[in-house]
Amino acid sequence: MPDFKILILGGYGQTGLALTRLLIQETTVSIVLAGRDITKAKLAAEALNNQLSTERVGACYADASEASTLTSAFKGVGLILVTSSTATYTRTIAEAALNAGCDYMDIHFGLSVYTQLQQLESKIREAGRCFISGGGFHPGMPAIMIRYGAMLFDEIHSARTAGLMKIDFSTYNASTSTRIEFVEELAGFNPLYYTKGKWKKMNMLTGNGMRTFDFGNSYGNCRCSPLFFEELRPLPQQYSSLRETGFYIAGFNLVTDYFIFPFIMLCLKIVPRRFNSLLAKLMVWSIKTFTRPPYGYVMKLEAEGLKNGREKNIQVWVRSMDPAFITAVPVVACLKQYLKQNTRAAGLQVQGQFAEPVLFIEDCRRMGLEVKLSE
Ligand SMILES: NC(=O)c1ccc[n+]([C@@H]2O[C@H](COP(=O)([O-])OP(=O)(O)OC[C@H]3O[C@@H](n4cnc5c(N)ncnc54)[C@H](OP(=O)(O)O)[C@@H]3O)[C@@H](O)[C@H]2O)c1
Repeated sequence: MPDFKILILGGYGQTGLALTRLLIQETTVSIVLAGRDITKAKLAAEALNNQLSTERVGACYADASEASTLTSAFKGVGLILVTSSTATYTRTIAEAALNAGCDYMDIHFGLSVYTQLQQLESKIREAGRCFISGGGFHPGMPAIMIRYGAMLFDEIHSARTAGLMKIDFSTYNASTSTRIEFVEELAGFNPLYYTKGKWKKMNMLTGNGMRTFDFGNSYGNCRCSPLFFEELRPLPQQYSSLRETGFYIAGFNLVTDYFIFPFIMLCLKIVPRRFNSLLAKLMVWSIKTFTRPPYGYVMKLEAEGLKNGREKNIQVWVRSMDPAFITAVPVVACLKQYLKQNTRAAGLQVQGQFAEPVLFIEDCRRMGLEVKLSE
């Protein structure tokens, strides 16, 4: 699709820049970097055009909190890719995309984003638009890894994914708005997992429902809590033999997990919203102070079932040292499938269910993520 244009809202942020590099490398689309600082957007576009020897990157002003700026920015664009910390403005962005006749994709992890989009579901379908939510690494990868794993069994019984993020804040430099958004989205933390054929919530007091996963030599065993994403919901219907599934997330470090996060979650309930920037500072301080190397990002699938009448278990690993890269690669793998058009179904979807798993995992490997399968 040589004339197809993608506007990346938050395009000069860390994930936006990594995405732009990969999209230029992997597709023929042109890109517009959009955000509230037009100078930054223009400088980033110029730098990328020079580095990548292209003229396909442009820039424009857009503020997600002001619908009128979105309306003018979205004119002539094929797809809006939301990589800005603007979860609260999801409805405004989605409506502007519908009005401008654009498709939409986001990489948010907050459950509130999907709920806002669900309210527009019938309008999205009637307009024939393709909306993909929950793109990226997590959300985005867990359901794809489970669907990938399921293809290696005749009957799958259990398929759990787990993620580990050891953030090195000396190289990860998210903006203040992104840090605040992360803290605010903790309020919607939903520790749901599927066991013995039913969705169940982890007991926050006893920790019943947590599991230990082995993340390999560098990280070893880590206790993980369930973390529900919309992409997981259809799995038990898709695989009727599946009795155990879910996504589990490893903690940052003991101090952050057992003292700072519970404190922040309590404050989110009782303290006015204007103090959220202080809570974000506290969170970053504790992760920076108490997280020890080795840093890195891992996603793992552990699955069990039957193949040719025999019990079998597999593990699939996806790893990278770079947080923006490990988020951008899955989005681009998904968009490559979207751009082929034959998979571009109208309606509201999630990346974890939208993408075809074998091609997706192969693309992630080819673009530079470390992918390993062991049986
Ligand atoms: N699914 C996944 O695997 C995954 C992984 C990592 C991150 N994420 C999500 O991706 C988002 C960005 O993360 P990041 O690390 O790339 O953050 P970042 O580097 O801080 O970038 C955020 C960008 O959003 C822009 N922005 C903020 N408010 C805006 C507004 N009102 N209108 C337009 N643009 C606005 C910022 O630019 P200005 O402030 O100059 O406008 C900035 O360019 C976050 O929501 C994060 O939760 C998802």
